[in-house]
Amino acid sequence: MATGFNVVLGAAGQTGLECVKRLLVVSDLPTRAVVRDTAKLAGALEPSDKLQIVQGDVTNPVSLREVLQGARGVIFAAAGKGYWSAADVDFKGVQNLAEVAKDVGVERVVLVSSMLVTRKHWLHPMRIILNNVRFSLMDNKLKGEDALRNSGIDYTIVRPGGLGNGAGGQCTFVTGQGDLMPLGNINRADVAAVCVEALTNPGAKDITLELTAKPGLPEEGYEAGLKSLWKGLSPGVH
Ligand SMILES: NC(=O)c1ccc[n+]([C@@H]2O[C@H](COP(=O)([O-])OP(=O)(O)OC[C@H]3O[C@@H](n4cnc5c(N)ncnc54)[C@H](OP(=O)(O)O)[C@@H]3O)[C@@H](O)[C@H]2O)c1
Repeated sequence: MATGFNVVLGAAGQTGLECVKRLLVVSDLPTRAVVRDTAKLAGALEPSDKLQIVQGDVTNPVSLREVLQGARGVIFAAAGKGYWSAADVDFKGVQNLAEVAKDVGVERVVLVSSMLVTRKHWLHPMRIILNNVRFSLMDNKLKGEDALRNSGIDYTIVRPGGLGNGAGGQCTFVTGQGDLMPLGNINRADVAAVCVEALTNPGAKDITLELTAKPGLPEEGYEAGLKSLWKGLSPGVH
């Protein structure tokens, strides 16, 4: 039987909160929701014996070590706030996580990144806009991805398309690799379901994938679709 607990970093963020909710429903392990200010989660979640709300900051390796000691899986759903935040949070925050997670024996790290992150799209108008919304956002996200890929820890990197806040559980997942897929959208709740599945699915090990969704359920159903979406994806490709 699995021991330990799962951790969501950036748990008060819109995708992070969906990850916590999903974990509380589908995982037998406790879920540790890590936020910079625990007051931010007040009233956002149903009380649960399996839920721990803990203060932590991905820019501080000491803080990360405290919240990750004993963890089994970790989802990084944090994203910087403020124009100059991408280097500290989206790059070095992931780098800190990879180093500490490896050190304390975390089994898998799942990172929420973004489509268009690779340099092959450096002249794509949307990438240029995103790189200016926060200084060098996409370049720093890619550096964060690379730090995780090169860390030696088991990882999954999920690169969603445009995020929406609609209900989850009603779509068919569309996946790609190599940052070549046409742009599309997906609800945060569905990204969260994929991130949570990635924590334990053997097929998600060392996978980097792009992720969007189309309306309507697959013939096999939503939950089976989550289990099977890793088939045909290759470790290491990015
Ligand atoms: N928006 C889109 O369409 C889109 C598309 C593709 C990919 N993405 C990516 O998807 C991810 C999730 O997006 P989202 O909109 O769900 O995020 P979000 O709501 O902006 O949440 C980000 C969270 O990160 C937390 N955070 C910031 N700095 C932190 C730190 N130093 N330590 C710990 N936590 C920290 C913030 O906490 P505080 O509450 O304390 O500030 C916030 O709750 C992001 O990486 C984003 O770039 C977004």
